[in-house]
Amino acid sequence: MKKILDLIAEKLAPAFTESGYDASYAKAVLSNRPDLCEYQCNGAMAAAKAYKKKPTDIAHNVAEKLSGDSMFSQVEAVMPGFINIKLQETWLADYINSMSKAEKLGLEEVEKPETIIVDYGGANVAKPLHVGHLRAAIIGESIKRMGRFLGHNVIGDVHLGDWGLQMGLIIEELRDRKPELPYFDENFQGEYPEEAPFTIGELEEIYPAASGKSKTDEAFKERAQTATFQLQNGYAPYRAIWKHIMNVSVADLKKNYNNLNVHFDLWKGESDAQPYIPGLIQDLIDKGLAYESQGALVVDIAEDSDSKELPPCIVRKSDGAALYATSDLATLVEREQDFSPNRYIYVVDKRQELHFTQVFRVAKKAGIVSQDTPMIFLGFGTMNGKDGKPFKTREGGVMRLETLISEINEAVFDRIMENRTVTEEEARETAGIVGLSALKYGDLSNQAAKDYVFDVDRFISFEGNTGPYILYTIVRIKSILNKYGEIDKSAKILPAVTEAEKALQLEISKYNEVLMNSFGETAPHKICQYVYDLSNACNRFYHDTKILSEEDKAQRESWLLLIGLAKSVLETCIDLLGIEAPERM
Ligand code: ARG
Repeated sequence: MKKILDLIAEKLAPAFTESGYDASYAKAVLSNRPDLCEYQCNGAMAAAKAYKKKPTDIAHNVAEKLSGDSMFSQVEAVMPGFINIKLQETWLADYINSMSKAEKLGLEEVEKPETIIVDYGGANVAKPLHVGHLRAAIIGESIKRMGRFLGHNVIGDVHLGDWGLQMGLIIEELRDRKPELPYFDENFQGEYPEEAPFTIGELEEIYPAASGKSKTDEAFKERAQTATFQLQNGYAPYRAIWKHIMNVSVADLKKNYNNLNVHFDLWKGESDAQPYIPGLIQDLIDKGLAYESQGALVVDIAEDSDSKELPPCIVRKSDGAALYATSDLATLVEREQDFSPNRYIYVVDKRQELHFTQVFRVAKKAGIVSQDTPMIFLGFGTMNGKDGKPFKTREGGVMRLETLISEINEAVFDRIMENRTVTEEEARETAGIVGLSALKYGDLSNQAAKDYVFDVDRFISFEGNTGPYILYTIVRIKSILNKYGEIDKSAKILPAVTEAEKALQLEISKYNEVLMNSFGETAPHKICQYVYDLSNACNRFYHDTKILSEEDKAQRESWLLLIGLAKSVLETCIDLLGIEAPERM
């Protein structure tokens, strides 16, 4: 279905041209004075300059042409030249009746589906998943779902950090602890064991221990660096350990992401890009882009329009080692070869912005990615504690994701048990669903680039702009619908008779517009804002209207269909946020 704004513009266009003005002024926007109108057109003001006429005259000309149109109950020219618009109740009811029957609730899918790679997650293998990676997972998952729902071919890649110094650290720590392992016997000829020499529990303890040791023990650190270098150059025993680390750790990561209801199509990592590095470097040299600077190989990326000086991108260190940027560039070579995407979206901590500016510019300069392929860096801010500092455990350590989730679920569980209307078992299950919504919505409702304060009490509240409030609205509608039973097949949504009812219908009708914009601007918070507005409209309508005791059957069922449609819209939208509603709460 077409978006309301487009439908209004289609009516405005001939009104402008017939009045002698260009159709390009015929744009409608949502009203910024909801007390006066629902939509507005500001085109007369712009046209006034071009045609050297009074804006009000133009507005009057246009408004006159539209009077009596069945789409509008009001088209009014007001000072200093706005055209205020209200939709006709019958027209609006028709529109949302069509929505309720249409596939995907009448979503206008994209004309040209694109292949889009969303790079998110970014967990580092063998390091525990912590809250720093939470935002990437939550935001990226939502972007992926939105794009897919609109009809794009979206590929989500976790892009693991699986090739760094942590591997050398673990290898050397393992050598110190279990020197008898065959991996450390240079003369070992046989097959390496199939079973990993550690469990996930041990691995989680080994890495922090090794990392701590490397900070005080210089010799150990050097050993770890050498081991990393050897691993990266294909030394078989270390490759074998690395495979074990990968198997054990990736299985655990999958479990954790699964618990978050976050799912990747590709489980690739930095290691997968390694084979592409030599060719990449050669190509950069051949194209005359890479040059030696203090022993390192660099590519200039500065542009005249930069407001501050941007350093060149280092693609090879003086010791010959590849860097983070090299790995991201090589990954692009691989992605182009495998998918030739039409768009890239990276969901990563905003502190990595410079890195991505460098990578994107080198990729375009070198023609790895074509000039017109958008490369979007969706940089997110930090999740802070109530003290305004990056979120930590009470003891001051890095909060593990699992701990964080169970703390939230516990708080929600207590909340649910206060009412004591459900069994403990059901409360546990519901707490899991509601807790996750609290966490995700608490994150997604902020503009991604902003830092935000993680506040469990606020996030789990059933009131205000929170996940639980949205779920509660849905659950409440479900319960009304369940109470009523079957609705007559011939029933339909009738034109609104009250203000709250029209407000709800208007809110529902914005759905198409919102989804398109949220994805276009890679802004899940716009979906949150919408579901919040829609929930408020639902609750106000519900509060105003005695639905079940209404005597007129057609009216009663119209209202039930209306809240049912609101529920469908809410459910569709929260699914795009990676959230689901329980049956009861
Ligand atoms: N592993 C990285 C980190 O923890 C994030 C990876 C982001 N994606 C990328 N293509 N560089 O900081």
